Amino acid sequence: MATRVGIILAGGTGARVGLSIPKQLIKIAGKTVMEHTIEIFQNSDALDEIFVLMHPDHLDVAEEIAAKYSKVTKIIAGGETRNETTQRALAALEGYPADTKLMTHDAVRPLLADRIISDCIDALDRYDAVDVAIASADTIIEVDDNRVITEIPPRHRMRRGQTPQAFRLGTLLDAYERAWQDPDFVATDDCTVVLRYRPDKPIYVVEGSDHNVKITEPIDIFIADKLFQIGSSAAPAHTKPSEYHTALAGKVLVVLGGSYGIGADIAELVAGFGGTAHCYSRSGTGTHVERAEDVEAAFADAFEKSGRIDYIVVTAGILNRGRLADVAMDDILSGIGVNYLAPVFAARCGLKYLEQTHGQLLFFTSSSYTRGRASYSMYSSAKAAVVNLTQALADEWSDIDVRVNCINPERTSTPMRTKAFGAEPAGSLLSSKAVALTSIDVLLSSLTGHVVDVRRLDGEGGLSRTELEARRISEALAKAEAGEGFDSDF
Ligand code: CTP
Repeated sequence: MATRVGIILAGGTGARVGLSIPKQLIKIAGKTVMEHTIEIFQNSDALDEIFVLMHPDHLDVAEEIAAKYSKVTKIIAGGETRNETTQRALAALEGYPADTKLMTHDAVRPLLADRIISDCIDALDRYDAVDVAIASADTIIEVDDNRVITEIPPRHRMRRGQTPQAFRLGTLLDAYERAWQDPDFVATDDCTVVLRYRPDKPIYVVEGSDHNVKITEPIDIFIADKLFQIGSSAAPAHTKPSEYHTALAGKVLVVLGGSYGIGADIAELVAGFGGTAHCYSRSGTGTHVERAEDVEAAFADAFEKSGRIDYIVVTAGILNRGRLADVAMDDILSGIGVNYLAPVFAARCGLKYLEQTHGQLLFFTSSSYTRGRASYSMYSSAKAAVVNLTQALADEWSDIDVRVNCINPERTSTPMRTKAFGAEPAGSLLSSKAVALTSIDVLLSSLTGHVVDVRRLDGEGGLSRTELEARRISEALAKAEAGEGFDSDF
């Protein structure tokens, strides 16, 4: 099979974004833009090797980032223009066979879907050159130098070109060789080079994605950040029960607010899987999570008992509804205290323990965090603050390998919810066990800075996959407790 090489083009400076660092080095969702892009290539089964072409002033940063990714085999200084940067990659491919499959991609498109990579690589079995594009919702017009329209091509045939672009090495090499001999050669991408200089080679177009944005102008940073928030939200795959056991053996969890609901379920599951769980709450241990000294004391107690803390989970929450003018001042303060200050204190007091274990801090938000509405002013704004806090801490802690994430469960059956809304139809709510299980999956994952959605999808018998898994795992735990051991293939 032909070798498949991914080329990440990061040779530009990002003048239009206008920051002091190149835009590929801006941090979004806990990592530099370029690192997100390298990670997508690293995780793709359709690529064997990665070359990173970096602006010559920042090669050291590229080396440092790339060291984490085993597929990166070359880090090369970029050229003056994007096409010169591609040319340098081609030079570095000397000795590779002409049928090598090559993919060039803008480092500043960090939201590329794996599906697009594999579609491009597959299409190279039929074509020597492949582009990626999406339909244009806007009418595309062509103007002259005086901003006067010269042409309005029919919109249904117009596409907006993205990257990656993929080629058989021999074809791209040949096209570039011819291009450099043309004194009028100008292009902004690699497909243009094939189109102009190897017109005999049809260029197939793979369907791109609206999410595959290119960070070009300052607003794109904001858009990419929001897309990461949505896109990063899928819960990680469930671990097998036997693997939960291995992963959690010897691990120590602290739950703030674990006397009932999701917190209690997380603690129960972790203990069932062979870990140690310590729960601190007002009713259980007299711990007021909204007081820094109580949080400090809770962690010190857990550390004294177990000698380490790997995971800190904050599930304590108060849902006080009501129009702001009508809410009692005490309720406003207790809401801010439990919903917002408790996460802040957990982070501040917990860091010294999590730093030792390279552990994780896990918060809970609410789906209401994205948009404020009447009667939820205090609750939803505190939950929005928790999301922002998660992102800030993921950034602050990325260098010390302490992770922080936030679970965003859909409506969940918890005592807090029943108190606020009364009994609701059976089956309309997620079970807190299912949310607890996903929370453990997140604790065991390498995610950081993510808001992980837990949804009630339709599944067998109206139950979501998460619900079904939670039920099966509870059953497996019960069996294990009865001394029957775990099914190996769960
Ligand atoms: N690129 C490159 N080498 C260059 C110029 C650009 O590898 N000499 C890369 C950029 O790093 C980016 C991609 O090509 O990943 C798309 O280019 P563009 O958005 O034009 O990037 P910049 O040139 O960095 O941006 P600007 O035009 O705003 O300066």
